[in-house]
Amino acid sequence: MHAVLSPVHSGPAPLTHQNWPAALAGDGYAVIHGLVPHELCLRLQAEARAAHETDKLDRAGIGRVDDHTLDTRVRRDKTKWFDRTSAAQTDYLEIMETVRQTVNRELFLGLFSYEAHFAVYEPGGFYKRHVDAFRGSRNRVLSSVFYMNENWSAEDDGALVIYADDETETTLATVYPEFGTLVLFLSEDIPHEVRPTTRDRYSIAGWFRVNDRQTAPSLQVVSRVSGLSL
Ligand code: OGA
Ligand code: MN
Repeated sequence: MHAVLSPVHSGPAPLTHQNWPAALAGDGYAVIHGLVPHELCLRLQAEARAAHETDKLDRAGIGRVDDHTLDTRVRRDKTKWFDRTSAAQTDYLEIMETVRQTVNRELFLGLFSYEAHFAVYEPGGFYKRHVDAFRGSRNRVLSSVFYMNENWSAEDDGALVIYADDETETTLATVYPEFGTLVLFLSEDIPHEVRPTTRDRYSIAGWFRVNDRQTAPSLQVVSRVSGLSL
């Protein structure tokens, strides 16, 4: 019954591109392989690497103006927002558009737009446990992280750890940033962290947003009302 299990993934078996919406609805997250073609992964990796090598990335913050000391205690990575200046970016955005449409069709989330940035974690880089949106206050609904690192091993660490909830140390999954892996999770509901990496770690983080958080549907409401276990 199990498909190929990646040696550096612990948690449920990685999903193919057919059954991820059900996993996302049931678990609040999904780890997906094979959605982004190999050659596009290579082009995205090359672009991220070139930006890194030519110093085009900015040190990431956590949104508190001028408090850089706090920033570097919480996260240490460098980012560059997509600006649609390459075919790799627009090809990736096109795939994320199919994700958006699938989620809206199957899970009724009313996702409206998407924003993404390249991220590089250099050796020692990390991002402490957090959620990507605070309930009710932001309009990020669904988070995506895509990885472009070949031959990642458990010793390299830099794992994305997904926690069951805010209170516990119980983890739902530990995902290593292996080439071609895409993770989707609910931005408000899934606490997660990036453990320190020992290698340069290349990724694309992105967020699907709704227009107005107040009136947008939520997955919890939808599944309760419909009574479906999706
Ligand atoms: C983020 C984040 C996870 C990862 O950028 O908010 O949690 O695995 N990234 O890079
Ligand atoms: Mn995050």
